[in-house]
Amino acid sequence: MPASSSFQTQRFPVKLYDFHPPIDDFRSAVVEGLSLPQKTISPKFLYDKRGSELFDAICGLPEYYLTRSEMAILQTHAAAIAASLGNRTLVELGSGSSQKVRILLQAAPQITTYVGVDISRQHLQEACQALTQDFAGLGAIAICADYTQPLPIDSVPELRDQATVGFFPGSSIGNLEPAEAVAFLKTISVLGDLVIGVDLKKSAQVLEPAYDDAQGVSAAFALNLLERINRELDADFDLDQFTYRAHYNPDAGRIEMAIVSLRDQTVQLGDIPIPFQTGETLRTEHSYKYTIDEFQLLAMEAGFKPVQVWTDPDQLFSLHHLQQL
Ligand code: AVJ
Repeated sequence: MPASSSFQTQRFPVKLYDFHPPIDDFRSAVVEGLSLPQKTISPKFLYDKRGSELFDAICGLPEYYLTRSEMAILQTHAAAIAASLGNRTLVELGSGSSQKVRILLQAAPQITTYVGVDISRQHLQEACQALTQDFAGLGAIAICADYTQPLPIDSVPELRDQATVGFFPGSSIGNLEPAEAVAFLKTISVLGDLVIGVDLKKSAQVLEPAYDDAQGVSAAFALNLLERINRELDADFDLDQFTYRAHYNPDAGRIEMAIVSLRDQTVQLGDIPIPFQTGETLRTEHSYKYTIDEFQLLAMEAGFKPVQVWTDPDQLFSLHHLQQL
């Protein structure tokens, strides 16, 4: 290893702002969610260390076209997308392993500061560290936070009074109900312009395998939630007594993902008994799909002006540049 590269690492250490929600939040969310008539746990809890690894594996699956299509859009239109970013501080929400932003950074050497926001702390730190090693002159800041909550911008000096642009790839906006998506876009409008990835409506024959693949990685990703609850909250879910299901609801325009109980059973969550009936579902995710027009309308409701949209040749995925009005 040449001395210069380790020197570089030290010159641009990744500063971490840790707003990670306390474990109590997970416990109360699980207790509350499992007490609802339709048992529901927010998808944000899928991303512990193991869950983040499984999600990365999903992104490489042959059936999961989303990541490949979005990467192709980024590669094909990198110059135009980079131009829309200007030289502003790039704030990526739910940055994960940051593969996508690399394509943008390559095409946008004028960007000198990258801010990654993710709930998975270790994953985030490693990704930011790798970026500063691979992009000479790039400063990176890691914010461990739940980006569905208002961004703690005022607590981050590097974000206050800086011109920023938001990057929200992956169609994670699809996890929100449409009304929540509008509210969310309004809260992140503090970042200024937005470049956001949105999965497009298409046939159930393409959608369902993307969310229930032959190798069972999607199932493992959902079922890891039960393992996480066992690990962190002293519960006794028997993984053999549950299965995973993904179904496209064309009327609602969403994939509905759930864990299904294979029999009548009672699970202990600490000292709280949680009854399940045979066939009863625990909802893990909704993944909404939009046409380009539908999403532009939604963005306008949130006070954005759609200025540009890029798609892949098969029209599977879309990337929107939204401007602040
Ligand atoms: C991270 C919400 C974009 O909905 O495609 C993928 C999550 N869950 N497979 C999606 C997910 C199961 C993913 N998002």
